[in-house]
Amino acid sequence: MLKKLATGAAFALALIPAAGFAAGGSGHVEDFQFSFEGPFGTYDQNQLQRGLQIYTEVCSACHGLKFVPLRTLSDEGGPGLPEDQVRAYAAENFEVFDAELDDFRPAKPVDHFPANTSLGAPDLSLMAKARAGFHGPYGSGLNQLFKGMGGAEYIASLLDGYTGETKEEAGTTFYGNTAFPGGWISMAPPLSDEQVEFADGHANDVHHMAQDVAAFLMWTAEPKMMARQTAGFVGVLILTVLSVLLYLTNKRLWAPHKGKKTS
Ligand code: HEC
Repeated sequence: MLKKLATGAAFALALIPAAGFAAGGSGHVEDFQFSFEGPFGTYDQNQLQRGLQIYTEVCSACHGLKFVPLRTLSDEGGPGLPEDQVRAYAAENFEVFDAELDDFRPAKPVDHFPANTSLGAPDLSLMAKARAGFHGPYGSGLNQLFKGMGGAEYIASLLDGYTGETKEEAGTTFYGNTAFPGGWISMAPPLSDEQVEFADGHANDVHHMAQDVAAFLMWTAEPKMMARQTAGFVGVLILTVLSVLLYLTNKRLWAPHKGKKTS
């Protein structure tokens, strides 16, 4: 019996590092501080506009955003561009295929960002929700309770996590990356210092730009985050008030019967 217990315990102990390894198969993700974190967090409009600029000038060459309507760029709580700027932005940067014209035409605000799969790069519309930055400990997922899912942190860490090493495998070049699971990604480092110039002269080193474009991709994946948080907060507030009223009502109803001897 004792021996059985001992082997059981040894087996359980052996499992713990195994589970830890499975959960920690992903790379290193830095816990960036984003403005939208926490129950009252909001998107930083200037940051979203910088992120949009980085996406347009750099990432859109390979990645699409096919689920994002261009008109939402003027949404409050989003990048908040004036409508005429959205119209000009759409027409200047993207072309879409119009079935009626049977030809390509400049994009309009009613169109979505184009899809782009030519180079095998995944669509980025929902990427910030499709990746988790934080896991564990030991596969329990408790870290996400405290730090959040970490999709934006993962993207920022990925863009900022190139080691500078490369290797060739079956004719494909892979780039060393500390955030990508497995440590080697086929996307060449897309950002370099001072690659994008911002109108307001904001810092444009890789570390800052990685966070800006990650924040923008968080917004494309979850454009209504702020409205959702507000609704949740109002909901909790109403339920709290109702609970207090219910408690008082209950007390009042039972008051005549309490303290009465029944015998
Ligand atoms: C030259 C083309 C190219 C450019 C430019 C580019 N990417 Fe990529 N990206 C790729 C390819 C190809 C993959 C697939 C890599 C893989 O799975 O090994 C990828 C994958 C990704 C992934 C998914 C990683 C994962 O966990 O699967 C993210 C996020 C990403 N890119 C973000 C960006 C951002 C943000 C930019 C702009 C700053 C950008 N990319 C610019 C080609 C590109």
